[in-house]
Amino acid sequence: MGENFLALHVTSKCQLRCKHCYCRSYTHANAEMPLEIVRNLCEDFLSTEFPLREYGIILSGGEPLLYSRFEQLCNLVREFQGHVRLSTNGILIPKYIHIFERNDGIQVSIDGDRETHDSIRGKGSYDKAIKALECLKEHGIRHSIGFALCKLNFHCIDHIIELCKKYECTMLNVELYQPFKKTRLTVRFTEWLKAKEYVSKHVKTLVTCVETGCVAGIYGIAVTPDLNYWDCPRHQEIIGRYPQPIKEVLREPEDIMNPFDTCCKYMVW
Ligand SMILES: C[S@@+](CC[C@H](N)C(=O)[O-])C[C@H]1O[C@@H](n2cnc3c(N)ncnc32)[C@H](O)[C@@H]1O
Repeated sequence: MGENFLALHVTSKCQLRCKHCYCRSYTHANAEMPLEIVRNLCEDFLSTEFPLREYGIILSGGEPLLYSRFEQLCNLVREFQGHVRLSTNGILIPKYIHIFERNDGIQVSIDGDRETHDSIRGKGSYDKAIKALECLKEHGIRHSIGFALCKLNFHCIDHIIELCKKYECTMLNVELYQPFKKTRLTVRFTEWLKAKEYVSKHVKTLVTCVETGCVAGIYGIAVTPDLNYWDCPRHQEIIGRYPQPIKEVLREPEDIMNPFDTCCKYMVW
């Protein structure tokens, strides 16, 4: 069962320059979404009729913990959904640990063992991500791992499963590496499916829209720090711009697409 999503890319700032990052189109922009606009977007999202019953607001970026008023941002999101969900590189988790609550959902990105992760995300970033997992575990805050599977880290699947067990993660989100052109980083779609099946024997994973049919711009939207509406963080087609009401830019539920026409168009089956 999925959910309608509002992915708020609240800042373009990030400490890292990951080799695989799909947000490079705006990381040069030095843009941040004002808090008032975050409020307006959340209100608009929650009052818009979507196909599913569950609604989810997710903070991303850039690095969401680099948002200049991060504590106020979390308080605001709690007003709407009672908890905070975000994806992070983990670097600032120890600094902000007091802000998080037990029922938040903090996904720490780990893209391999130390050597592989650091080669993708930058030297020293693995140890900081592990520290974040330790800290979240110690404070009893709900956390998971996001692992973007590509050619560079295929050999690290068992390592990531072990981390999930060791740090008591609720889930392992094995993301399919999203190419924007033909690249050597891409794994075959079927290889990714097999990897997910293997992972699911050991830890909880997610069934994603990439498997069930593309819902970009149907179940939700993403908003970039410079306030464009993307149909989804993976496909990134600009379908509108703030302050357009979300309902005006949505596609119809019967328009469910084949992911191989959208985000998977550069993938090999
Ligand atoms: C863009 S990052 C932003 C949040 C935060 N800075 C982080 O590192 O998690 C959100 C998630 O998208 C994943 N991601 C980035 N580029 C990707 C790509 N090309 N394909 C699949 N996942 C990607 C990252 O690995 C991370 O788990």
